[in-house]
Amino acid sequence: MKEKFYITTAIAYTSGKPHIGNTYEAVLADAIARHKRLLGYDVYFQTGTDEHGEKIELKAKNNEKECQEFVDEVSDEIKNIWKKLNISYDKFVRTTESHHKEIVQKIFKKLYDQGDIYLDNYEGYYCIPCESFWTESQLIDGKCPDCDREVELRKEPAYFFKLKKYEKELNSYIKEHPDFIYPKIRENEMINNFLKPGLEDLCVSRTSFKWGIPVPFDDKHVIYVWLDALTNYITNIGYDPDDDNETFNKLWPCDLHVVGKDIVRFHTIYWPIFLMALGLPLPKRVFGHPWVLAGAEKMSKSKGNVLYADELCDKYGVDVVRYCYLHEISFANDGTITEDILIERNNSDLANTLGNLVNRTIVMVNKYFDGKVMRNIEDNPLDNDLRSYMESLNEKICQKMDELKIQEATELILTACRKCNKYIDENEPWALAKSEEKMDRLNTVLYNLIQSIRIIAINLQAFLPDTANKILKLINIDDKTYISSKQFDTDSDEIRTNKEEILFKRIQ
Ligand code: MSP
Repeated sequence: MKEKFYITTAIAYTSGKPHIGNTYEAVLADAIARHKRLLGYDVYFQTGTDEHGEKIELKAKNNEKECQEFVDEVSDEIKNIWKKLNISYDKFVRTTESHHKEIVQKIFKKLYDQGDIYLDNYEGYYCIPCESFWTESQLIDGKCPDCDREVELRKEPAYFFKLKKYEKELNSYIKEHPDFIYPKIRENEMINNFLKPGLEDLCVSRTSFKWGIPVPFDDKHVIYVWLDALTNYITNIGYDPDDDNETFNKLWPCDLHVVGKDIVRFHTIYWPIFLMALGLPLPKRVFGHPWVLAGAEKMSKSKGNVLYADELCDKYGVDVVRYCYLHEISFANDGTITEDILIERNNSDLANTLGNLVNRTIVMVNKYFDGKVMRNIEDNPLDNDLRSYMESLNEKICQKMDELKIQEATELILTACRKCNKYIDENEPWALAKSEEKMDRLNTVLYNLIQSIRIIAINLQAFLPDTANKILKLINIDDKTYISSKQFDTDSDEIRTNKEEILFKRIQ
């Protein structure tokens, strides 16, 4: 039986069209999910939209729409962007679906009945965009410490969750599971900024607006949007506090939550504590990825520096956008994406290095050998070096992927392309083609290049699936398995090429 791998993204707010920062995560998680599938895992990849809360209620009102109509439209728009970006999710969840709402209410009731949720009064400073309450001492210059926007003083009766009760257990869990919060820098942030100062009980209901899931036994209150949103990871795979469920038992605990660094706090403090209270095992890993910046700053509509992934895909092609996401942002540090960077990467890495390698190799096979190269293994140091490098490529990529260093994995592919281009320069096939007695050597050189391109394309599938498939089609390869990429030669003695095709056009 295949081992399961359950991976999720955060669910995006339906407050408006997501910018390239929000969509980055979907591509990142998609590359990991595709990679795991290629390794033979039974992958379940879940993403979706987070549709409740005051911010969304206000947005709908500003757009003169009913809340449900508004979130239906935005959720569809997000789904379309995911489609354009080639996100291979298995399930797209929505928090306004009735099944999710029903289970969230059951969870709230269970936690209340067992004494983990209690009614009290809340007085504090509320930040609407972040849907977060802050104490006066947490404010920075009187503003929200997360987003630097204005906050309002509010007092309201509210339900509270006993976070403090589970603090010790969470601290021990984090200590005993060094892989839980990734990378280390995020774990340190959580420990220093939240766990060391100590946790306060968490306000988990609101009365100041209506657009949310009602508290089942007190409908003046709606359930705090983060309690509603976080539980999407279990409500949609069959969790029910009153029933055992086979799918849930198979998929839970989640193997990897992929979330932005700004919401690691919710996923590594609140979420594990909710799960502890429900008596459920905790997720194996939370990957807090860095931010995508547009220029020197975080993207935001109010700053007017927003780029949208679907527009960039239309302009430059989906794999150029995917490539820049994966190659420009490291696992720990923020990275920048601008149109200039997209053009530069398209021209240098994709058109000149990868595209040119594939194109000129196929052109030569078609021109000198009528589209067919034959296996011929020579004991030549240049060939031996290329062969052993290519045979180890998959292992090196897998190592990087295990460490979630996706940028470095994509760079290995580029290095492999550069190695092939160097091999071309060293062997000068155009010079070999000039003399009849060097045709055997020319065949060997081109055969080695085609096999290397096959191995590169197989490894490229997780990152740029369309391009990888195009290349494999050009050289008539059906076996796209990772295992096959660990062997330099294929079973067949010959490889046939089709008419060459430009993979990436240079952009002026
Ligand atoms: N709805 C919450 C998540 C709930 S998960 C149970 C949310 N939504 S969001 O739309 O604001 O963000 C979606 C994801 O995009 C989050 O993981 C967030 O951290 C990430 N990003 C938002 N802006 C980003 C960048 N500029 N760069 C990279 N990721 C960023 O938070």
